[in-house]
Amino acid sequence: MSYGLEHFIADCEAAAAANAEAADCVTAALPLMERLLDGDRSFLEPEHFRSDPDHYARNAIYVAADERMSLFALVWLPGQWTPVHDHGTWGVVGILQGALEERSYMSEGAIARDDDIHLKRGGVVLLKEKSVTSFVPNPDHIHMTGVPESRAMAVSLHLYGRNMNSFHIYDVARGTRRLINVPHQKS
Ligand SMILES: [Fe+2]
Repeated sequence: MSYGLEHFIADCEAAAAANAEAADCVTAALPLMERLLDGDRSFLEPEHFRSDPDHYARNAIYVAADERMSLFALVWLPGQWTPVHDHGTWGVVGILQGALEERSYMSEGAIARDDDIHLKRGGVVLLKEKSVTSFVPNPDHIHMTGVPESRAMAVSLHLYGRNMNSFHIYDVARGTRRLINVPHQKS
């Protein structure tokens, strides 16, 4: 029987409950995401593939009642990118289709306030179908992700250790950040 959404969520919640350290949690959740991507994906509905011509689309698949975990399908049309951002929690990302590019940023010091932030550009990762990656907070992983104009649409699954309804976006040139609230389409 294919590994489905209910089984995946239950296993991820068990992994989160068993691992207080975020790095241990994502290590435990990574093979679960791999298994989900390898399954028949029958849990995915047409609304999870909704795109938006104006910006990448965030389609909620699951948000825990206690908001301690969430799963989204993100749909990236060619040329759509996130701002430079953080997450405030751990996350595990798996690629359903296409290729997602990740451009990392590194802080030259601890970030304790919303200005006087010094970010340097880091390496680039190209994630293709069935690739899985992860991140942890404190210090938070700062990056931008998206799909260059020259590539096809991509769809990715994002599991987070909270309801991902807010995060910081960074103005690298000004050395500032601000917290934004993000809407998402609920299925
Ligand atoms: Fe991100």
